[in-house]
Amino acid sequence: MQKRQIYLLPALLFTFLWCLPVLCLAEEEIPESASQNQKCLKCHGQRFYFYHNEFVGKEVKDRMNPYFLIDSAQYYKSNHRSFVCTDCHSSDYRNFPHDGNLRMEPKFNCLDCHGGDETYAHFHFEKIEEEFLASVHSTKHSEDFTCWMCHNPHSYRISARNNENIGEVIVYDNDICLSCHANIEKYQLLTNLTNPNVLVTHEWLPNQALHFSKVRCIECHTEVDRDILVAHKVQEKEKAVRKCVECHSQNSLLMATLYKFESVEKRSSLGFFNATILGEHYIIGANRNYYLNVVSFIVFGLTFIGIIIHAILRFINK
Ligand code: HEC
Ligand code: HEC
Ligand code: HEC
Ligand code: HEC
Ligand code: HEC
Ligand code: HEC
Ligand code: HEC
Repeated sequence: MQKRQIYLLPALLFTFLWCLPVLCLAEEEIPESASQNQKCLKCHGQRFYFYHNEFVGKEVKDRMNPYFLIDSAQYYKSNHRSFVCTDCHSSDYRNFPHDGNLRMEPKFNCLDCHGGDETYAHFHFEKIEEEFLASVHSTKHSEDFTCWMCHNPHSYRISARNNENIGEVIVYDNDICLSCHANIEKYQLLTNLTNPNVLVTHEWLPNQALHFSKVRCIECHTEVDRDILVAHKVQEKEKAVRKCVECHSQNSLLMATLYKFESVEKRSSLGFFNATILGEHYIIGANRNYYLNVVSFIVFGLTFIGIIIHAILRFINK
């Protein structure tokens, strides 16, 4: 009897530990909203949807408009994953066919929920809005250009703040810009201009492919801001950073932009100027080492003294 208990205990412990990640995963991945959302996603999550046509009394299969498709995997990774669809959309959407007037309904904007809320104070929503309103996008297109244009309501998640992998952050953030600047259909929602190819307009950058994978568009196109993590004031092209030394130098602008979050925490460890950048890249000019600099001065000095002594000796010998 006692022997059995001894065997049972580790077995129970083992089962518990084994289930632990599964339990945690379940909690994180499937929020309570999921079962409610499934009622919408059974249509908006699939390429084909079905409905019952009462007039002819049969099931109809149809194609979902690709612009109305929502990737549920992305949705449940997003900031707003705990939301039910009808937190942002009218509950009348539960009926199908949807009432035609529903498309006229005004949408919430970010500040409606996040404005003045202590919980989100560290994001500085008000300051971000102020910067956005002064950006080219907003000044040229006023109300048509909303925060949602860059922050997809069904997939946006914070990246720069909590992702340690700088490479992933760069791709994520650049994809936001490229969703218009490399996609004429979304771009022309706002303008009749043709969309110049960013690869062509940036040909002046040497090894452009490398630069585009190592820095973000916003590094060169926004005004640096001390208070907020991600600067939002996208400026006219004339004001964009073009000078190589802005990054390839000791006080590289990248420390105030791309590496801002890290740079506050581990500034100048190990004697490297801009040590944070070095974890990811070696940028010519930006990553000189203080100690190496001192050593090179000493070597240079000793060589110089050597040459002088040598010259004096030769002079005396003559
Ligand atoms: C039976 C399939 C089906 C279900 C269920 C469904 N929808 Fe739709 N939805 C559609 C179709 C099809 C459209 C395209 C426009 C139309 O036919 O009304 C659409 C359009 C929309 C639009 C875009 C309207 C516009 O013109 O901008 C929104 C928003 C929307 N649905 C939200 C929802 C929400 C929220 C739910 C769940 C509460 C939901 N839908 C459930 C099929 C469905
Ligand atoms: C955080 C708020 C929010 C949540 C949650 C949300 N939506 Fe939306 N949805 C929006 C906004 C805002 C737009 C308009 C986007 C725009 O104008 O660019 C939109 C647009 C849409 C559209 C029209 C297509 C488009 O992209 O413009 C459909 C369809 C839709 N939502 C369905 C859903 C469904 C289904 C869910 C739940 C799985 C859902 N939404 C959850 C805010 C939300
Ligand atoms: C309908 C109200 C509503 C709207 C509109 C809304 N949010 Fe949120 N947002 C919330 C709530 C509530 C949470 C917390 C969700 C949770 O914890 O599950 C949240 C979470 C977030 C977070 C994550 C915070 C964290 O610490 O993880 C960010 C970032 C965010 N929202 C940004 C935005 C942006 C940007 C917009 C506009 C493009 C926006 N939100 C629009 C209500 C809203
Ligand atoms: C031109 C595109 C664009 C527009 C418009 C835009 N944003 Fe952003 N926003 C970004 C990018 C890119 C990021 C960086 C995403 C990341 O890595 O977390 C970001 C990040 C954020 C963050 C997270 C910052 C942090 O500290 O972690 C918030 C909050 C935010 N935006 C709010 C807004 C609000 C509010 C608006 C409208 C007033 C807006 N954004 C409009 C591109 C845009
Ligand atoms: C929703 C679509 C959209 C998104 C997303 C977007 N842009 Fe734009 N952008 C435009 C449009 C449209 C214009 C043209 C404005 C005009 O001249 O009418 C523009 C103009 C610009 C300009 C000014 C060009 C000039 O002629 O002076 C720059 C720079 C720019 N965008 C950079 C960015 C960056 C950086 C991002 C990402 C943070 C971004 N854009 C995201 C649509 C977008
Ligand atoms: C190294 C700095 C740098 C980076 C990184 C960068 N740009 Fe630029 N960009 C510039 C400069 C400088 C100009 C002005 C070029 C000119 O006037 O010919 C420009 C021009 C532009 C224009 C206006 C082009 C036109 O002719 O209308 C757009 C739009 C633009 N950039 C978008 C982007 C996007 C999107 C990204 C990210 C994929 C990006 N830029 C990355 C520096 C940069
Ligand atoms: C926005 C910041 C920024 C600007 C502006 C910038 N660079 Fe760079 N540059 C980088 C980064 C980041 C790397 C990547 C370092 C790495 O990881 O290898 C890089 C890499 C390089 C490389 C190394 C390429 C290789 O093959 O390894 C050269 C050469 C270079 N840049 C030249 C220039 C020149 C010339 C200019 C001006 C016309 C310029 N850069 C402007 C940030 C910048």
